[in-house]
Amino acid sequence: MLNRRNFLTAAVGVAATAGLAACAKEDSSSTGSSSGGSDTITLGFSQVGSESGWRSANTDSVKSAAKEAGYKLQFSDAQQKQENQISAIRSFIAQKVDVIAFSPVVVTGWDAVLKEAQAAKIPVVLTDRSVESDESLFATLVGSDFTDEGRRAARILEKVLEKAGHKGDVKIAQLEGTTGAAPAIERAKGFKEVMDADHADDWKIVVTQTGDFTRAGGKQVMSAFLQSNPDINVLYAHNDDMGLGAIQAIEAAGKKPGKDILIITVDGVKDGFIAMSEGKINAIVECNPLLGPQLMDVVKKVHAGETVERWIKTEESDFMQDQAKDALPTRKY
Ligand code: AHR
Repeated sequence: MLNRRNFLTAAVGVAATAGLAACAKEDSSSTGSSSGGSDTITLGFSQVGSESGWRSANTDSVKSAAKEAGYKLQFSDAQQKQENQISAIRSFIAQKVDVIAFSPVVVTGWDAVLKEAQAAKIPVVLTDRSVESDESLFATLVGSDFTDEGRRAARILEKVLEKAGHKGDVKIAQLEGTTGAAPAIERAKGFKEVMDADHADDWKIVVTQTGDFTRAGGKQVMSAFLQSNPDINVLYAHNDDMGLGAIQAIEAAGKKPGKDILIITVDGVKDGFIAMSEGKINAIVECNPLLGPQLMDVVKKVHAGETVERWIKTEESDFMQDQAKDALPTRKY
């Protein structure tokens, strides 16, 4: 996976591949706003699925930015299955698209298909999530620093506990994202890093399990957590949707979300902000899904054989409950 050390390393090998791909470009027609013809870029995009509000906003952003840029977009929804993403990428290679972009459902298992794309001289751009593969196999990652999001979640929990006047042990339930996915691994890692460094004595993750980034998963797993560990007093959910599902389970158990159980989530979708403005979520660590315009810019550059940064990071903020009402009307997703 990418780390800070190689953040600004130039993608020389990939740029060379992209240059060759630009020479070998097939004719394609545009579904976008500018005119079609041989200069139109065909972009094959494999999306994870439609598991969350974040994902829907990300899909809309990619589709509208491709249209705006005048690219021909071949869009494929993998329904959270790696085998579907691998098939979609193979199909993009067979169609000789100009550039392939994808948001990998998990971090491992991509080497073979990425080598096939490289052999076909089609540059690959990762978007949203990273992979554990040789970095020469992809041009760049456009997306967030999930480890830092985990650290930010722990830091904002410190503020939430202080604001709530919490005394005594902090018994944390963690709802993890999809097993093996970069945001699940890294959001857990960043949170634990701060917890181990500064709260080893009083914070403890008493239960942790995947809710697969879905509302239904969050509800089901939280309901089981509450039965096995009724004394949980904090929930850290790796996304808003799982947090929103968990809120239903907490209410069904006769407890008050945001009071009996303090809740921190990641994403910052509108539904998360609504729950926060109702006092049911205490703080949200933003993860911005509006990656479409940056992605199209990078696609254009790698297609032209230009060198790009190894990791184009997304800018994000954190929100406490008392900011929710003011922030809600201007949320874009
Ligand atoms: O990869 C980003 C994560 O995937 C979002 O936080 C989550 O909501 C989505 O499903």
